[in-house]
Amino acid sequence: MNNDRKHSDTNEIEREYSKFTTIEHRKKYAQFFTPFSLADLMAKWLIGNKDLKTVLDPAFGLGVFSRALLNHNHNLKIIGFEIDENIYEKAKIIFKNNKNISINLSDFMHNDWDNKYDGIICNPPYFNFRDYDSKNILEEIGKRISFKLNGLTNLYTLFLLKSIYQLNENGRAAFIIPSEFLNSDFGKLIKSYLIKSKTLRHIAVINFKENVFNDALTTSAIILCANDNKSGKVQFSNVSSKNDFSKIERVIESYPDYLSNERTFEFNNLNPELKWRAYYQEQNAVKYKNLVPFGNYGKVLRGIATGSNEFFTFNLSKANKFGIANKYLLPCICKSIDSKNSFFTNDDFEKLQANDKTVYLLNAVNPDKLVKRYIASGEEQEIDKKYLTEKRNPWYSIENRPPSPIWVSVFNRTGLRFVRNEANISNLTTFHCIYLNMFSAPKTDLFFAYLLTDVSKQIFNDNRREYGKGLQKFEPNDINNSKMLNLELLPSDSESEILEYFSLYRNSVIEKKPDESFVNKINDIFIKFYT
Ligand SMILES: C[S@@+](CC[C@H](N)C(=O)[O-])C[C@H]1O[C@@H](n2cnc3c(N)ncnc32)[C@H](O)[C@@H]1O
Repeated sequence: MNNDRKHSDTNEIEREYSKFTTIEHRKKYAQFFTPFSLADLMAKWLIGNKDLKTVLDPAFGLGVFSRALLNHNHNLKIIGFEIDENIYEKAKIIFKNNKNISINLSDFMHNDWDNKYDGIICNPPYFNFRDYDSKNILEEIGKRISFKLNGLTNLYTLFLLKSIYQLNENGRAAFIIPSEFLNSDFGKLIKSYLIKSKTLRHIAVINFKENVFNDALTTSAIILCANDNKSGKVQFSNVSSKNDFSKIERVIESYPDYLSNERTFEFNNLNPELKWRAYYQEQNAVKYKNLVPFGNYGKVLRGIATGSNEFFTFNLSKANKFGIANKYLLPCICKSIDSKNSFFTNDDFEKLQANDKTVYLLNAVNPDKLVKRYIASGEEQEIDKKYLTEKRNPWYSIENRPPSPIWVSVFNRTGLRFVRNEANISNLTTFHCIYLNMFSAPKTDLFFAYLLTDVSKQIFNDNRREYGKGLQKFEPNDINNSKMLNLELLPSDSESEILEYFSLYRNSVIEKKPDESFVNKINDIFIKFYT
């Protein structure tokens, strides 16, 4: 048995390679390999095209896809692209006995634009675009596919776009890529293109509970496309363990029919502006009734961006050193760590100030001589030429953003964190500001009591963005576009009960013995009335 037969249905080749290759080298080329079982599943999608003769693998590696494909059809003509000479030499040896496979040692993004293929199968490199040394590529792709591209930040999306362009009529493509594009801003363009090209057929979102495969694959998506006119719909599925592969296999076998209409959407009904999580995951909001837009109550804006925190922020000793008078210092929370509790009081502020923490922002309106001198020192350091300061007039003015009654933290591992700003001070971008409108402002306590509960956090969570490793981020509009319970429907005795628990909870926090059972009781009241 020759070498290419011996390991044709395992990842033994990749394992050997990884053993003898440094992790730095693999990272440099984004060499994370596809588990054979997944490669085989993707190969089956291509094999479903009865006219399949030519196949492209734009990021060849050690050819796991070719091994899977050849098990199904030994006569396929496969073209590979690979940029790393080291892995290329190894791949050439693996496939030396198969004359139908030719691997090119060149960059896929810059080559092969004029060829079309019956099948394209790929696990592309996941590089941030800025790490990829090619500035003109966006323009070139944009021109070729007649689609305006901007803000695409990751190379894998470009591999996908170029591949769809290179599909023959009836051709099929199978890609495995990180699922983050489904729910982030940079993914909107690629989602629009997938809809516009009408080639998208299925997205299987992999979200393994356990780390069955390598880290890079635990949150990824398999994208199946077909350049045929056999379906006008896209189906989504969730894959949470290897057992779910058979589900995808049945989807593939039955194409263009659908086994069920579950999570299936016409192209017209897919909105690239939305987070596509809504199409494949049950939304928390559906568990509750009487929901209204968050915007009915208020508005979230990001905190003050200075352009140079080092220059604009002060503690008392820095203020003394430069002789900055109190009237030029705006009390301001600069780091989220300085406000760890749900309530930020005047006392908390005074303590931070006494401990010489950075809690002031330069507010140089009608500057005196000493402030002018400080401003001049900023100009010497070219703070006035920075991205944000350059656009302001004068450059040292700060954004007009009054203190907000509630803050919400920007990055989270454990869900949103809200803080009641009782000290009525300003905040930098470490928090977003929540402003209530004139109708809800009189009910700030009730509103804040609601924000503290798991119910509110679950509903907001439908709109989160994920940054890998469990880190979540909320942009102001993620919250503005969220739903919340309609608090006006709450009976007045329940409202009073909530306010009582809220007051007890507040006291427990102020006394430094936070008692979460009060928040749980508030949560239960909401559950009782809104489910
Ligand atoms: C994520 S690995 C996938 C390898 C293999 N297809 C698999 O699935 O196991 C991506 C491969 O693409 C190669 N690569 C990176 N940038 C490339 C480019 N611009 N053109 C072609 N290949 C590239 C890397 O060296 C690496 O071998």
